[in-house]
Amino acid sequence: MTVRTLGYVVIGTRDLDAWRRFACDALGLMATPAADGEKALHLRSDDRPLRVRVEERDTEDLVAVGWELANRAAFEAAIDALKREGIDVEAGSDELRASRCARDVVRFRDPTGSPHELYHGTIYDHRPFVSPVGGAGFVTGDLGMGHVVLPAADVEAGRAFFEQVLGFRTSDELHQGPVSLAFLRCNPRHHSLALASIEHPTGLVHFMLELASLDDVGYALDRVQAGGYHLSATLGKHTNDQMVSFYVRSPSGFDVEVGCGGLHVDDATWTTGEITAPSFWGHRWDFGRGE
Ligand SMILES: [Fe+2]
Repeated sequence: MTVRTLGYVVIGTRDLDAWRRFACDALGLMATPAADGEKALHLRSDDRPLRVRVEERDTEDLVAVGWELANRAAFEAAIDALKREGIDVEAGSDELRASRCARDVVRFRDPTGSPHELYHGTIYDHRPFVSPVGGAGFVTGDLGMGHVVLPAADVEAGRAFFEQVLGFRTSDELHQGPVSLAFLRCNPRHHSLALASIEHPTGLVHFMLELASLDDVGYALDRVQAGGYHLSATLGKHTNDQMVSFYVRSPSGFDVEVGCGGLHVDDATWTTGEITAPSFWGHRWDFGRGE
């Protein structure tokens, strides 16, 4: 019942073309044809056929966070664990499985209302990943695609659910005034999931992509600024995962964090801490224009 990695994120948008420009030209993701036609954009960051799926909709929102299980047995054990908690689990249709490039998928909502999917059995297309902007590529593999930060009205309830039902471990937490965050891992990446007691109209605070080098982060920052995108936070270094990163506003209105050098946690030795500041330096926030 232990989730292995953050596999993919599914986003709804009114403007697929804006997302294509943002994802490919600024972030350096590779666009690939979606199995279900032209109303969706599939974006790759590595050998996997899908890391970010952007669907044409009449809203800007998070459609699903896709969590990867090791195999069918682990997938079925996780479904059983969800059902024991009284969570409604929606079986995936053939269409859903094809759109996620996976052998099997189910959908559910966590106790704070965020939409998730569990899947196993990635269906590869074996085309090599080539970033349209070059560079050394993204850090993924056993660490998954990156991380997501989700709004959660009750962080403690959400944390208990992910720990007790899906096998996540708490790496760190942050409490600043009325705002609390819990940072949860499912592999050595310091956090694949964070729950934040803040609201966001899209249902997603940000997702993070990790690049292989500081130079690539710098080149990405130059492309973002040359492209006229809103820089939500300047370059900075986080205290908890030690990521050097910046935040850029996506066409959907939530942020994308682009960083490098994230901390790897050893379960055998890690002790949970409480951080009292999100960043050592930088990360000057500009929440800026509404989208
Ligand atoms: Fe982050």
